[in-house]
Amino acid sequence: PLKNTSVADPYQYVKGDLVDLTVNIHKELQSRNKELTELAKYYFDGKGKAIRPAIALMTAKAINQHLGIINSEVLELQKKVAMAAEMIHTASLVHDDVIDVSEMRRGKPSANGIWGQPKSAVAGDFIISAATRVMAQLNDADVLICISQVVADLVQGEFLQMGTRESESDRFNHYLLKTFKKTATIMANSCKAVSILAGCDSHLQNVAYDYGRYIGLTFQIVDDLLDFISDSSLLGKPGLADLKLGLATAPVLFAAEQYPELNVLIMRRFSQPGDVQTALECVLNSDGLERTKELARQHCQEAQRQARQLNPSEFRNGMEALAQLVLQRLK
Ligand code: FPP
Ligand code: MG
Ligand code: MG
Repeated sequence: PLKNTSVADPYQYVKGDLVDLTVNIHKELQSRNKELTELAKYYFDGKGKAIRPAIALMTAKAINQHLGIINSEVLELQKKVAMAAEMIHTASLVHDDVIDVSEMRRGKPSANGIWGQPKSAVAGDFIISAATRVMAQLNDADVLICISQVVADLVQGEFLQMGTRESESDRFNHYLLKTFKKTATIMANSCKAVSILAGCDSHLQNVAYDYGRYIGLTFQIVDDLLDFISDSSLLGKPGLADLKLGLATAPVLFAAEQYPELNVLIMRRFSQPGDVQTALECVLNSDGLERTKELARQHCQEAQRQARQLNPSEFRNGMEALAQLVLQRLK
């Protein structure tokens, strides 16, 4: 069983910062074009989980405590990393909804649903430019390298997702690499960036990076699980989206070990009539969902183990509690 950290709601430690974050992001997205600004700000409605900035800020506070940093100027710089992480993530969602032709996001019409594909695509670029400007204000080349790596990884993750591995034995590694690049890189690199700003040595930078990496992998593995078990009204988007997009995630990959006939469907990306239904039935009859849960649990524990390398503090507990929250989330 997982160690039960005593923090009931880790968000309490970063709530105020997250309110400022949304306000500051809105400021960065001002432009002379009213429609562009409206579109760019559309997903920053303060209703998202803001899990990425929460992770970066909690890690920043735990590390500052660990190093005895009481200088609030350092935290002000670290907040800009949290801000850029949320902006890059959201820009990628604006692009993602264009690519996936999604009509809904978080229970409301997607940006492309309202403004159309061309305007959404360029507005995503506009958000990236604003995030780049925020990062440039930090005057730190190593931090800039971390954050540019995030954008490169997101793009490569999307490319990985568009391809299917021929060999069954490669598929799981391909899935984990895709998952890192698509989701975990942003947590890993923003945690590393805040540790650089705190002046951490390379060991502590790696601790921060690995914490972000493991919590990010946990997040996406849970996401892949929820796509199978959650109700679309809870998700705010249709369920079984991955199968419908041709994507084989952990539940299907595990199920294919018990039902090898799934491999043909995986290779053709569930494109024939009935494929999605067949795959779903195999997953539900297999132990794929249970094994996916176990995989998420292991990654969560690993994130918590990284956090415990820091000196004890309420923020370190907050890091552990955030990992737990990511594991247990329902949407
Ligand atoms: C959501 O995945 C999408 C991502 C996590 C990343 C998308 C990345 C790109 C579109 C590359 C371009 C990147 C930038 C920075 C502009 P999903 O479609 O599985 O999840 P969903 O259910 O939230 O749509
Ligand atoms: Mg999508
Ligand atoms: Mg997508």
